[in-house]
Amino acid sequence: MKGLILSGGKGTRLRPITYTGAKQLVPVANKPVLFYAIEDLVEAGITDVGIVIGDTGDQIRAAVGDGSQFGARVTYIPQEAPLGLAHGVKISQDFLGEEPFVLFLGDNFIRDGIVPLVEEFRTSGANCQLLLYRVPNPEAFGVADVRGNRILKVVEKPQIPPSDLAIIGIYMFDHHVFEAIREIKPSARGELEITDTIQVLIDWGLTVVPKIITGWWIDTGKHADMLEANRLILETQEPATHGMVDGKSQIYGRVVIQKGAEIRNSVIRGPAIIGEETQVIDSYIGPFTSIYHHCLIEGSEIEHSIILENSRVVDVPHRIEESLIGRNVEISRSPIKPRAYKFMLGDYSKVGIL
Ligand code: TTP
Repeated sequence: MKGLILSGGKGTRLRPITYTGAKQLVPVANKPVLFYAIEDLVEAGITDVGIVIGDTGDQIRAAVGDGSQFGARVTYIPQEAPLGLAHGVKISQDFLGEEPFVLFLGDNFIRDGIVPLVEEFRTSGANCQLLLYRVPNPEAFGVADVRGNRILKVVEKPQIPPSDLAIIGIYMFDHHVFEAIREIKPSARGELEITDTIQVLIDWGLTVVPKIITGWWIDTGKHADMLEANRLILETQEPATHGMVDGKSQIYGRVVIQKGAEIRNSVIRGPAIIGEETQVIDSYIGPFTSIYHHCLIEGSEIEHSIILENSRVVDVPHRIEESLIGRNVEISRSPIKPRAYKFMLGDYSKVGIL
């Protein structure tokens, strides 16, 4: 089997982070979301992996390389515009050939990996297997109507959902999917939809089977979901110290201090992770916080947040919570009079002040 990861897209829901960076490279517990998908595929024995890339393709190529760091062989497939998930599959036909494959959305996350799910698909003889997850608000998702071991219908964001089973962003197909894509037309939003494609497979009488997963699933496309994924991963990490912690600092719980990090006169209450070459000085870092590499946190308090690389938070008088802070960001107290907030914020930035 092969793997296909979609890592293009617009990422509008994660602006402004996605103006300059790929959303699939936003770190969860200091590891890009996309890396978890690649690792899941490799763990399931799938090492031939295609990655569909868009505007942020150069960043994805730089981060993933030829895939050897994961034990995979990666082929990049540029998509000229985000014309839909099914379009991403269509342009990958040469790479996928006749082999069955796993389609993985590069911002999706499941706790338990895909090993038994891939095995089941391999042996089932089904043409398509969908992973489903019970949600309280199915009207916000693609939803499956399931009878026994068959999916009878799939509908995108239904007003009256046929079930509470959301279709998650990990799908398994055989080669029939390419013929089905040729049958569909772009939707009202101008995209070739994967749900329409799956409905064609069902209408043709091909076997589309459900697999309901019980461990958590998160689509990290939004700010709150990114923080939630970060929380869930941090909760499972084993504490480790590869950096320097001075005698005046206290570390509690599941805390990882990565190589070259320095903690001075600070309190870190886990689960939390402090990235490589990051300095934490006279500060408090609270639960569910990931600080990426080459940051400086000084004289400040941060909790339940993700901070990307090269950012500085210095002498901020109130605790920062539930924040997603991008790369090279600087938040500090201004020594210059008059005393006032001084902002330089990109489009779609969000700031909550006290
Ligand atoms: P989405 O999250 O559905 O779309 P998006 O990335 O454009 O984000 P937003 O809705 O916030 O604007 O995409 C799911 C995944 O698939 C994501 O990793 C991006 C990728 N993708 C492609 O590679 N090509 C595409 O044409 C689309 C629509 C998505």
